[in-house]
Amino acid sequence: MSESVERFYDDLAAEYHHVYADWESGIERQASVLDQLIQCESSAGKSVVLDCSCGIGTQAIGLAQRGYKVFASDLSPKAVARAEAEAAKRELNVRFAVADVRELECAFDQKFDVVISCDNSLPHLLTDEDLTLALRNIRRVLTDKGLFVASIRDYDRLLAEKPSFVAMNPGGTHEEEVIVFQIWDWSKESDTYLLRLFIMSRAASDWRVKEIKTRYRAIRRNELTAALESAGFAKVAWHKPEQSGYFQPIVTARA
Ligand SMILES: C[S@@+](CC[C@H](N)C(=O)[O-])C[C@H]1O[C@@H](n2cnc3c(N)ncnc32)[C@H](O)[C@@H]1O
Repeated sequence: MSESVERFYDDLAAEYHHVYADWESGIERQASVLDQLIQCESSAGKSVVLDCSCGIGTQAIGLAQRGYKVFASDLSPKAVARAEAEAAKRELNVRFAVADVRELECAFDQKFDVVISCDNSLPHLLTDEDLTLALRNIRRVLTDKGLFVASIRDYDRLLAEKPSFVAMNPGGTHEEEVIVFQIWDWSKESDTYLLRLFIMSRAASDWRVKEIKTRYRAIRRNELTAALESAGFAKVAWHKPEQSGYFQPIVTARA
């Protein structure tokens, strides 16, 4: 089975909302925190935002609903197609593109006040070189002193615990007869793990199991801070979930 990131999210696009107990509430909850953070950190008001790892649109849709002018891109063509359909269903005007964040500069011919990359997307970049390349591209599509906002899992804690089983909202998804969980196989050579995602759904009297996998780098906050600074970002600041109300640590930085 392939570890390709693009394939993983293409295979997941139709079912991605099952990762949430309630995707609609997740859209609203996340947008509320991001909106507050952007208003606090940026002087541009309801600014022009690019979500450079939009997936099926969780944050892009929520910010568009709150009056931002939103552009959104992702590596996975099927995730982008679903995000486009979800935005159209809600009569939202979001401009979508398929783009690798490492080549973002080639995908857009304009600059953005804010670029976001939420829910642990950057840790798909497994090497320092790829991470720096992505961050440099993000910086190049930002306006002067534009704001970058990203969220990642709390790998400082997770590296101490190295969990092998992660349930994904089993209570919420059970009602729809879909159960989602993850198994993490940690590498002995590096701070990476192979994430095996299992989607169990009831088909008549049987349960069908789909397994897809991808690799993540468990990146510590000081490593991401160093990468941001080496890509030219300034004023790197971390916002803990207890302060921000977001479900993951958020980092903000200035171009
Ligand atoms: C965990 S998902 C989060 C998606 C979305 N932000 C959300 O919260 O629903 C991670 C996303 O990062 C995207 N991604 C991973 N590597 C990427 C890359 N090199 N360029 C652009 N997108 C990438 C994946 O395709 C996936 O949609």
